[in-house]
Amino acid sequence: MPIKIDKKTGRITLKTRRTMYVMEMKYGKYPVHLYYGKLSPKADAEYKCPLYSFAPYYEEYGWEYFPDVVMSEYPFFGSGDFRASAMKLRHLGNGNDTTLFTFRSARKFRGRKALPGLPFAEADRHTETLELTLNDDVTGCLLKLYYTVFKDCDVISRYFILENKGDCAVRLEKTMMLALDIPKGDYDLLTFTGGHCCERSLQRTPVMRGNQSIFSRRGASSHHFNPFMMIADRKATEERGNAYGFNLVYSGSFLNEIETDQTGTTRVLTGLGSECFNWLLEPGESFTSPEAVMSFSSDGIGQVSRNMHRFVRNHILPPEPFENRPVVLNSWEAFYFNIDAKLMTEFAAEAAKCGMDTVVMDDGWFGKRVNDHAGLGDWYENPDRFPEGLKKFAEEVKAQGVKFGIWIEPEMVNPDSDLFRAHPEWCIRAPGRELMVSRSQLVLDMANGEVVEYLKRSFKKVFDGVPIDYFKWDMNRHMCEVGSPALPPERQGEVAYRYMLGVYELFRWFNEQYPNAMIENCSGGGGRYDLGMMKYSSQIWTSDNTGPVRRTYIQHGSSFGYPAAVMSCHVSNHHDACEDPRMREFLFRVALNGPLGYEFNIFKVSDDAKEAFKKQVAEFRRCEKLIMTGDLYRLLDPNKCGKYCYYFASENSKEILLTFAQNFDDPRRTVHKLKISKALQNAVYTDLLSGKEYSGEELRRGIEIESSEQGNYAMTLHLVRK
Ligand code: DGJ
Repeated sequence: MPIKIDKKTGRITLKTRRTMYVMEMKYGKYPVHLYYGKLSPKADAEYKCPLYSFAPYYEEYGWEYFPDVVMSEYPFFGSGDFRASAMKLRHLGNGNDTTLFTFRSARKFRGRKALPGLPFAEADRHTETLELTLNDDVTGCLLKLYYTVFKDCDVISRYFILENKGDCAVRLEKTMMLALDIPKGDYDLLTFTGGHCCERSLQRTPVMRGNQSIFSRRGASSHHFNPFMMIADRKATEERGNAYGFNLVYSGSFLNEIETDQTGTTRVLTGLGSECFNWLLEPGESFTSPEAVMSFSSDGIGQVSRNMHRFVRNHILPPEPFENRPVVLNSWEAFYFNIDAKLMTEFAAEAAKCGMDTVVMDDGWFGKRVNDHAGLGDWYENPDRFPEGLKKFAEEVKAQGVKFGIWIEPEMVNPDSDLFRAHPEWCIRAPGRELMVSRSQLVLDMANGEVVEYLKRSFKKVFDGVPIDYFKWDMNRHMCEVGSPALPPERQGEVAYRYMLGVYELFRWFNEQYPNAMIENCSGGGGRYDLGMMKYSSQIWTSDNTGPVRRTYIQHGSSFGYPAAVMSCHVSNHHDACEDPRMREFLFRVALNGPLGYEFNIFKVSDDAKEAFKKQVAEFRRCEKLIMTGDLYRLLDPNKCGKYCYYFASENSKEILLTFAQNFDDPRRTVHKLKISKALQNAVYTDLLSGKEYSGEELRRGIEIESSEQGNYAMTLHLVRK
């Protein structure tokens, strides 16, 4: 039983396969946090007030309970806890923002409830949910805190429902879904930061007294800080030490705070924050927050990553429409906007000859979209480029023996478009302020249901009857001057959040309307690489930077929170790589880290190169299952040594795929001893690429891989048990 509610002691215990989480209702009123860590019978935590604080306390409880230092399950603003809070609620009758809810009841149930309009993790047969109900007599609001236990992957999720049962409106002014107080210790914070073309680079810094945060105020989870983060023991390594992982099942602006107080307790908060979100709740209304997730392991950082990978694969990703992931040839880096029916059909024929099984027609096929100045929002094929219509064209592409994919950017509009001319009020804008046009585009007001319905109608009209197997859904600018002409003044703080609800609504419509097609998500590369998007799209375009050197850092960083199954990896023609066998090999080995694809002008490559691509695709197919479902073990960090090395192991360790990639020339020829601890001690493995044999013992002790004098070098071992 994952959840135990002890009515006598008021203690509640949540258990996953290897972890345990304990809380208690202090004085029957205040939910205090007792323990989150390794599952162990000894972990029977006691409530202890960590320290005296120079802070208010309730006279009746004396110094036993200081709201300011207690480990809290869910801290409120303005009622004696001076640390960062999870919720601030303003009473709009008296204007006061003191927030305090106290415990009323607890119950558990099998499975979980759906979150209306939002992406959420799917339950399996072991899933159980705890519902804690708290109330506040002053506002008349009920707060329901949910904890869902995903036993298989050591993940616990949190979200809340706030119901206004009072007779006066309230406003949510700070909204965090997950709060966790971690006892005093020396911790590091691991975040995944960067920008366009350099997403999710690992940054490891000490957790200090004070408040640190990562965030997005862009209306998208962003290239700049990914919402996934970790807290780990200062000495924690891939295999050893305590580590926690946190993430949000949401794709818009967010705030994650890490605050260490006077006692050394570290508070972690993840949610929507207060700058880009506030919500008016009238009497009788309720608000459901997005979901946040956490995982713990005492076996190091690598195990938290594997927990998260399993969680995404088993509970987040949509059903796979195909037996194998498509190996795409995408038109963008080949032709940019210069595409038409004839070119794309010939492109498809060449792709098929190289073993690629899907052609994705990127930007440039619709409206007046011959460059990025016009056409966004006008979702009908350009008749000059597709004179016989999209359906006939798609059928011809498929007749070449490939699947057909198409690019869309539903959330945007060019001012030079029929849509904008007809509906200038359908974009995000602030009253009286100039529109900032960026990449010649504006953001459509997805908070307005009419816009979402218009998009459904347009896409239905252009795509119905067209045999589409794959959508690449792009999003290329962030929101500023945020406002919705469709919402009243008192609801303008809800725009960016309602925008995301509109986007999710459209994603669900696509999933239902085209159940046999898969969606690849993209936002100028990996600008919305998050669990919200992963709920609807099987894979995500990792980065617009397809240079293999930078990719090793991006892929390494991405692997901390997300499985390889979502990480689109393309071999592209950077540095004229297709004709240089060494570079071609390097590109491919680096790309052999997720669903494979290609992106270059195939008409310009030699027969030799085409033959090589055919072999690459065949090799990818041989190890695809292992990449999609295997457990990942990181061995070398490119940030430390310029070398990237990791392996995937199948569940029974019958198959292991190791990749070593080196970015720079190494004249000293370093030797790395790489331990494959998942290899079976008494087994013998054959490397399918070289035919060489290795004993399990030898692999576990460590095999020596020598660096190359020249950079841009990568090698793979595909070990299969004899
Ligand atoms: C940005 C994407 O990241 C690219 O791959 C490409 O699809 C362009 N947009 C098209 O405009």
